[in-house]
Amino acid sequence: MFDKIKEEINNCQKCDLYKSRNKAIVGNGNPNAEIFLIGEAPGFEEDKKGIAFVGKSGQLLDKILAACNFDREKHIYIGNIIKCRPPQNRKPTKEEMEVCLPFLKRQIEMVDPKIIVLLGSTAIKGLLDPYAKITRDRGNWKMYEKRFVMPTFHPSALLRNPALKKDVWEDFKKIIVKYRELVDANHECKYI
Ligand code: URA
Repeated sequence: MFDKIKEEINNCQKCDLYKSRNKAIVGNGNPNAEIFLIGEAPGFEEDKKGIAFVGKSGQLLDKILAACNFDREKHIYIGNIIKCRPPQNRKPTKEEMEVCLPFLKRQIEMVDPKIIVLLGSTAIKGLLDPYAKITRDRGNWKMYEKRFVMPTFHPSALLRNPALKKDVWEDFKKIIVKYRELVDANHECKYI
């Protein structure tokens, strides 16, 4: 199942981003994970390596996940709204998001997670509501089909403004509580 979507994404020419991409990024982690993290689009490092969240934002994300005792290979699947890097890391356009989104929606069906975490404005606008505001909506549970969705700030926002880390930690504490409720009552985290 994943092989087919991987091939489709790697061969996709539905928008112009294929012309400048080095590698399309399908997604990484456990394809049976109960937590699906969604970012915006690949950056320079991701485009070079073909793996989601391996640049500076990814390193910070790894620290956040480690604090929650979530292992990227075991508890998490990570994908993006857009599979190919926009030049100069510009924001994806509405048209790019529209043509790429069906891939992500299929991936969500395939992974079938109980919890979705939306990282940043593009992720919440893309999956849930084009009029969403991450500053207003973060920290509040939403639903996508039958799944619990937690919007929070993108790690790149934390790199620009470290004061936001406090809010993101509050959001991830809610995610741990929900994970215990829905998936594993014994999930350990030394902080909560
Ligand atoms: N930022 C994202 O939104 N996604 C990545 O994969 C890397 C950085």
